[in-house]
Amino acid sequence: MLNSSFTSFFATLAFINTALSLPVTDLLPPPVKRADTTPRLIQYVQTFHPADDEDAHLSILPLLNKDTGITHVILAALHINGPDGNITLNDENPNATTFDRTWEEAATLQQNGVKVMVMMGGAATGSYDGRLCSTNGRSIQDAYYLPLVSTLKYRNVDGIDLDIEEPVALSCAQNLIRRIRQDFGKDFIITMAPVASDLPAGGSGLSGFSYSRLERSRAGKLVNWYNGQYYSGFVQGSLEESYQAGVANGFKPERVVLGVLDSSNDGSGYVSLSDVKETIENLKEDYRKFGGVDGWEYFDAGADEWLSKPWQWTKQIGKALFGKTEKRDVQVRERKLHTPKLPGGVAALMAKGHDQITAARALRMAKGDEVEAERMLKEGS
Ligand SMILES: *[C@@H]1O[C@H](CO)[C@@H](O)[C@H](O)[C@H]1NC(C)=O
Ligand SMILES: *[C@@H]1O[C@H](CO)[C@@H](O)[C@H](O)[C@H]1NC(C)=O
Repeated sequence: MLNSSFTSFFATLAFINTALSLPVTDLLPPPVKRADTTPRLIQYVQTFHPADDEDAHLSILPLLNKDTGITHVILAALHINGPDGNITLNDENPNATTFDRTWEEAATLQQNGVKVMVMMGGAATGSYDGRLCSTNGRSIQDAYYLPLVSTLKYRNVDGIDLDIEEPVALSCAQNLIRRIRQDFGKDFIITMAPVASDLPAGGSGLSGFSYSRLERSRAGKLVNWYNGQYYSGFVQGSLEESYQAGVANGFKPERVVLGVLDSSNDGSGYVSLSDVKETIENLKEDYRKFGGVDGWEYFDAGADEWLSKPWQWTKQIGKALFGKTEKRDVQVRERKLHTPKLPGGVAALMAKGHDQITAARALRMAKGDEVEAERMLKEGS
């Protein structure tokens, strides 16, 4: 039932139902929250097949038909490996048959108002510096860029999330944003995925440029919003303080999404579901236009919470985001802040005299390998 004929299945039911003059709404997928308003509920999806079975397919349809409140799904991760269309979604061509069902389901989500985007870059570096951008960042290289354009258009995605985790010039980010906006038009969604420490004043992270400078520039106005990575040791203090420090530095709350791990298996710095829900309450209380939450990543979401299906985590976050906040007396409520545990590797490098963000950066670049991270720090200094 939940395959490509999903939509026509519902259409048929709706027809039969109308004939019987029963309320149609019971059978249609639940209405989707408007994707162009805040808060947003975003789910990253990188694993398309359960690990134990390459032929099995992990459906993203429950994000729609279980009434999670999802507004955006971001498929990850696209990589530019070489010129002439050497592009992969994880390890394979995005046109490979292995992704056929995912693209079909993505279209169903889109037909029902959910925006489907792709993330490009991430922990596997190489797509930006010297490929999409010339090494000085001054120009976009068509040999790498044009095949990206044709792939995004062919796949009919609603937007791209630029997750730059390699040092590039500010002009690389600016030129790329301008070019994408020019080629895809004003309705195409362009987001970026800075780490939490990029947003406060004087902040830095993995991209090598200042996000404050980007945000204040004209190209910054072309970015729809930022999916901040509030994990991996990049959160300074509590989630609330880290988010507020970005807002204080000029990133409007409606332009910052709180990105969290939805499973401790997906990285370091996991925060429990109940703590994330309280953080949401706190940030909703602070900001009328809180930007929303994203979860990285789908297949094992909620595994730490004994939830048996990943969409259940998303749905719980949706309830906290879209539910009515109980009128609470701020005078009497004791406000609790939620500080992610520092990843062990970050703490160990800090004990050796490195500051938190330097340690977190080295650890991410070393893909979590503490010994390698320390070697990189030694070489760098
Ligand atoms: C694609 O790029 C990778 C990484 O640079 C390279 O190893 C591979 O040979 C390229 N494939 C083709 C068909 O050019
Ligand atoms: C995917 O297929 C479309 C349509 O044939 C093509 O334009 C695009 O370049 C292809 N993408 C890749 C990465 O091969």
